[in-house]
Amino acid sequence: MTTSFSGTRVLLVISGGIAAYKALDLIRRLRERGADVRCILTSGGAQFVTPLSVSALSGNKAHTDLFSLTDEAEMGHIRLARDCDLVIIAPASANLISRAAQGRADDLASTVLLATDKPLLFAPAMNPVMWQNTAVRDNVALLKKRGAHFVGPAAGDMACGETGEGRLAEVADIIAAAARFLAGDGPLKGRKALVTSGPTFEPIDPVRFIGNRSSGKQGHAIAHQLALAGADVTLVSGPVSEPDPPRVTTLHVETAAEMLAACQSALPADIAVCAAAVGDFRAEEIANQKIKKTSDTPMTLHLVHNPDILATLSAGNSRPCLVVGFAAETDGTLENAKKKLVAKGCDWILLNDVSGGKVFGAARNRITLLKKTADGEISAEDWPELDKKDIARDLAGLIGAHFAARP
Ligand code: CTP
Repeated sequence: MTTSFSGTRVLLVISGGIAAYKALDLIRRLRERGADVRCILTSGGAQFVTPLSVSALSGNKAHTDLFSLTDEAEMGHIRLARDCDLVIIAPASANLISRAAQGRADDLASTVLLATDKPLLFAPAMNPVMWQNTAVRDNVALLKKRGAHFVGPAAGDMACGETGEGRLAEVADIIAAAARFLAGDGPLKGRKALVTSGPTFEPIDPVRFIGNRSSGKQGHAIAHQLALAGADVTLVSGPVSEPDPPRVTTLHVETAAEMLAACQSALPADIAVCAAAVGDFRAEEIANQKIKKTSDTPMTLHLVHNPDILATLSAGNSRPCLVVGFAAETDGTLENAKKKLVAKGCDWILLNDVSGGKVFGAARNRITLLKKTADGEISAEDWPELDKKDIARDLAGLIGAHFAARP
C-alpha cells in the first residue's frame, strides 16, 4: 500500500545536475500520494529542466527568481519557505550544499533554505570525487549538525562515465525518507482532534461587529502540529489572515454560535483544544440596516451572553477524553486560571498573560501549563518564552505522550 501524503505540502528545490530530470518523476510520485508540490529551480537546475515542465507536472508555478516582483506579489519568498511541511532538495548540488552550509542568501533557493523553519531533506547528486572531497564532507557534516537530513547519494555508474558514490538516491528512497515527515505516523495516529482558533465576530449591523485582536497563530499552529503527530484534525477558525494549515480540515466561522455548531458537527473526538478567543457577548438584536449616527441621544447596545464552547464540550455527552483550554488573563494570576480550569471542566489549561494586548499577533508567548492531576490536585508548570510554533509542538508532544500512556 502506498503511504498517503494527503493534505501535506512539499517545497522541492531542484538544483543543477544531470539528475535534475529525476526530480520530475519525484514531483509525480509526491503528487500521486496526495502532496501539494511547489518547486524552486536554481539557475543551474533550469539548465537541465525547464520551468514549464516543472510547473506542468507540479500544477503550481515554478519559482526561479528572488527578485521577481510578480512572484513576491503572488507569494513572498518567506511564505514560500514557511508554507510547507518539508523542504526536499533534489538533486542537491555541491554548490547548493556549500551555499546552504555557509548560510548564503544569494538566490531564491539559498534564501528559502535560510528562511524556512521546516525540516530539510537533501538528496545530493554529484561526481564521486566531488562527493568525497573534504570541502563537501565538511559542509554535509555541518548541515547534519544543524539538523538537516540526507538521503543518498547512491553508488553506481555516473552519467559522467565514472563509477562510485554520487548518484541521486532512487526516487522511491527519497519518497521513503520524506514519509518520515509527511505520513502522519506519529503517536496520535488514529486519534481525532478538534481545535478552535482565532477571534469571533459578533455582528451589530450589516457593517459593524464586536471582535477582538486574536490572530489565530497559536490555534492554527496547534492544529498543524497535532496533524503532524498523526491526528485527524478539524480546525474551527474564526476570521483570521493565517492560511489554513496543511493536512487539517478547516471550518470557517464568524460567530460564537457558528463556532459551537461547527465544533459539535466535528464530534466525537478524542482531543479538544480550545484556543479561540470567543466573544463572550453578542448584540441581543442585529440591526438589518446600518445603524445611523444620532446627534444627541446616547447609544445603548444590549448584549447577551454567548455559549461557552469549552465548557459545553467539557460537559457534553460526547466529551473528548482530553479537553485543553487557554486562560487569557490580563493580571496573569494562577488563581484565576485554576478557577477557570475547574469552572470550565477541562483537563489542562494554558495560562497566558494578555495584559497590554502583548500576546495578540505576536510570534512568541510565555505560558504556564496547569493540569488536573489524578489525585484531584492542580499542577502548574512554567514554560520559558517560546515561539508559538514551539509551544504548539511541545503541546502536541505532551498530548501524544498522554495518549501513549493510556491503556
Ligand atoms: N472559551 C470558549 N467559549 C467562550 C469563551 C471562552 O470556548 N464563550 C474558551 C477559550 O477558547 C479558552 C477558555 O475558554 O480556551 C478561556 O477563555 P478566556 O477568554 O480566558 O476566558 P473567558 O471564559 O472568556 O472568561 P473571562 O473573559 O471572564 O476571563
